[in-house]
Amino acid sequence: MTENPTKPMNYQVIFMPSGRRGQIQHGKTLLVGAQKIGVALESICNGRQTCGKCKIRVESGYFDKHSIHSAVTHLSPLTEKEQQTLAKNGADGQRLACAACVHGDLLITVPEESRAQKQIIRKAATQRVITVNAAIRQVYIEVEQPELGDPAGDWGRVQTALSEQWQLDNLEIDLHALQNLQSVLRKENWGVTITLWNQHEVIDVQPGYLEGAYGLAVDVGSTTIASYLCDLRTGELLASQAMMNPQVSYGEDLMSRISFTMNRKDGLNLMHSAVIDALNQLAKRAAREAGIRARQIHEAVLVGNTVMTHMLLGLDPLELGGAPFALARRDSMDIKARDLGLNLHPGANIHILPAEAGHVGADNVAVLIAEQPYEHPEITLLIDVGTNAEIVLSTPKGLYSASSPTGPAFEGGQISSGMRAPLALSNGCALILRAKKRAFLSSEIKSGQINGNLQGICSPMSNLLTWRLAFADQASLR
Ligand code: FES
Repeated sequence: MTENPTKPMNYQVIFMPSGRRGQIQHGKTLLVGAQKIGVALESICNGRQTCGKCKIRVESGYFDKHSIHSAVTHLSPLTEKEQQTLAKNGADGQRLACAACVHGDLLITVPEESRAQKQIIRKAATQRVITVNAAIRQVYIEVEQPELGDPAGDWGRVQTALSEQWQLDNLEIDLHALQNLQSVLRKENWGVTITLWNQHEVIDVQPGYLEGAYGLAVDVGSTTIASYLCDLRTGELLASQAMMNPQVSYGEDLMSRISFTMNRKDGLNLMHSAVIDALNQLAKRAAREAGIRARQIHEAVLVGNTVMTHMLLGLDPLELGGAPFALARRDSMDIKARDLGLNLHPGANIHILPAEAGHVGADNVAVLIAEQPYEHPEITLLIDVGTNAEIVLSTPKGLYSASSPTGPAFEGGQISSGMRAPLALSNGCALILRAKKRAFLSSEIKSGQINGNLQGICSPMSNLLTWRLAFADQASLR
């Protein structure tokens, strides 16, 4: 392309996950460009490169879906000041939007903490009566001290104490717990709290008497990831946190993400790392909300559709891209959190529920466990509408499941005026209620009464189509 010296060069810049795109003039900072396009970034220091709030990530390579070639070299080089601020904020590998100037086309991912208009992603947990039967159990034991002539090792003495004091036999010990065992035993006069997984493996040994076993349940959805932190002793829900699945930057729906792994050599790795990073963030946030540390979480249960669980485990989802939709593995799995790079307790296990078949995955199994339609004689239809939808028909003859992509429309994606509810819209429900009166809203927009405040439609509601009709005569709400 030849530059016209009289006209400044413009480049295409796309901000994910909102998907907002626009032209930014050569040499302008990303912060200024984002403001022009309508992407609100955090900026406490007002562009002085000191607060580190405006950090963003540049995606590299060619992105079919957006028809864009993005590269870190399409930004001005990192300056010393920017580098220092990034390092201070633990954001090496990212850039400051207020420092980086646009020199080419870019696909930018805005991390959740850098978004000025935080979005509300709520996946509320329903309180229900359950029998607590956790995989984690904690017991206190007092261990015999070693003596000359007693050849048993410290682990042998712990096994004896567990057998005599709690009738727990045939136990294994996790390597990390074993590495700490000797020093921990000697800290509190040989009294220790043992954390046991599935009555089978000692995964933690702590000095003295301690209480507190925590578990994390996570629904890894195509568009949102929701996590729930529970007290495993009482079953109490302590915290719930949710965020957008950062894989959205690489494709809105399952098939476009599978294509991304096929078309990019590093595609699977990028998406695997993105979801692991998101899980770590959620665990940290949930732990903070509950007043504990993520390293105190001893157990996690993850569910998701089959493409999500494949990518989470670093398994190539290629076979799920076409019939007969073969899974790498259908059964449930227990994996050490550390093997996936999850920053929970080093001995923590991750349990992944089994899948059913093809695209009917562990999330659908979780729905069955929660709703138990097979316990009721009447015919029941369960519908889980997400970016990928599953339905289960429960009849006296058995259960029948099916799955189909629905697209992310209900969560604000791929519709011209779609968006998730921003935090500022604390009265979002009010807007939704008003919007349900189609004629009222339509006339309100026409008269300009809410013009200027309206950014888009946020709705998980089933009357989206009605809204589309209501807005049909509006060129654009953006
Ligand atoms: S706005 Fe403060 S560092 Fe960029």
